Amino acid sequence: MAEKISEARFEKAREELVARTQGSAEASTRAASTLAMEVVQTVVMPHPIYIERADGGQLTDVDGNVYIDLTAGFGPNVLGNRPEAVQRALAEQIERGWHWGIHNPLQADLAELICEASACADTVAFSNSGTEATMFAMRLARAHTGKEKVALFDGSYHGVHDYALTKADAKSPRSEPSANTLGGGIPGLIPRETMLMLPYRDANAFELIRKNRDDLALVVVEPVQSSNPRLDNADFLGELLEVCRENNVLLMFDEVITGFRIEYGGCQEYYGLTPDLATYGKAIGGGLPIGAVGGRAEIMNGFTGKDDAPFIFAGGTFSGNPLTMAAGTAAVRCMRDQRDTLYPYLHEQGARFQKAVNTFCADEGIPAQLMVAGSFFHLIFQSGEIGGQRDLGSENRRAERQFYLHLLDNGVIIPGIHIAFFSAAHTPEDVDQVFEAFQASFLALREDNIL
Ligand SMILES: Cc1ncc(COP(=O)(O)O)c(C=O)c1O
Repeated sequence: MAEKISEARFEKAREELVARTQGSAEASTRAASTLAMEVVQTVVMPHPIYIERADGGQLTDVDGNVYIDLTAGFGPNVLGNRPEAVQRALAEQIERGWHWGIHNPLQADLAELICEASACADTVAFSNSGTEATMFAMRLARAHTGKEKVALFDGSYHGVHDYALTKADAKSPRSEPSANTLGGGIPGLIPRETMLMLPYRDANAFELIRKNRDDLALVVVEPVQSSNPRLDNADFLGELLEVCRENNVLLMFDEVITGFRIEYGGCQEYYGLTPDLATYGKAIGGGLPIGAVGGRAEIMNGFTGKDDAPFIFAGGTFSGNPLTMAAGTAAVRCMRDQRDTLYPYLHEQGARFQKAVNTFCADEGIPAQLMVAGSFFHLIFQSGEIGGQRDLGSENRRAERQFYLHLLDNGVIIPGIHIAFFSAAHTPEDVDQVFEAFQASFLALREDNIL
């Protein structure tokens, strides 16, 4: 007979956390009356955790509890929290003003850095978020090609505009997924008539591109999917680029997470591939809101209509604002200057951590595995090969939810989307400490017979 689940360890951890996070509890109660939604999900706590300050690889909550921060601001903080060069650039910019709408020279500073790092970008256009960047890029590709459909992959994430929220219907055939939408409020004709859903890491994607070539403006791919962090995508991406070229379909790498994180030149550098367009966000803003589209000049000319390129309208009150540009320029310069040591260090920590966690899980018979792409990772609560999001089951969902509460109790914070990041500010000792917290959390689940 299966041993009984007790939840004793879970309840103890929960009670301890509740007792030492009363400030967060009060903040949460207050917010609930005016905030329609909490932007940041934490864990299955009775209340979210409210953070008061961020330093290096750490966060401090409103009650003074200190955590190792694996959130990295949802990815942007490749250099950690509050890197000195970015703080200095922000302070200097504040002396001069932070928003006036008219051009500022910092825009060209950041644009030059991105164009130099990005294999495909002759020019870039800034926005305030990755969402806006992918939205503008789709519009640009539609205008440039005169075709209307955009293809996305099963398991992808490209932000929250209506086109990006086209998702594969989980009940549709894996190799020929049909398009649905995530959440309501999106006109049915968007997934039905303007989008195409492709299977990820599956050769049938190439067939579907060939079949739809006359309607298909653009294929958008995360060169590393955040739902499925792994680096063994070279063959798939290489063939995808070839098929798109042969069929006169544009290819875009959505590098909002991977840009300046997987390598300085993002996945374009890592895989040695040059798509037609790339989108950026997160890391290029130095922690301030940003997005950017980059690409071949003849396509990018659509932003202004230069050289008779089909014009698209794009705008944004705060796009290219001096404060974001100052922070982004300082952060990207730091990453550029440290690139020879920074990226090998991040890859080394990710690989070392993956080996430690996966060896521990295998030795202990724990049905979990860590998927890693350089410095970002996702703990999957199941054994066996994971090909893509379609392979993710829900049998260990309860263990997964409780794991993150134990982790928080052990001083490590990972956001509710469970995608975690190491930064340059995490020392090898921090990584060891995170591993110890993982071990302790797994063993607590074991004691409760949850795993
Ligand atoms: C690959 C990718 N594209 C686009 C976005 C949207 O960016 P933002 O949240 O800045 O709108 C994200 C955000 O996580 C992302 O991971």
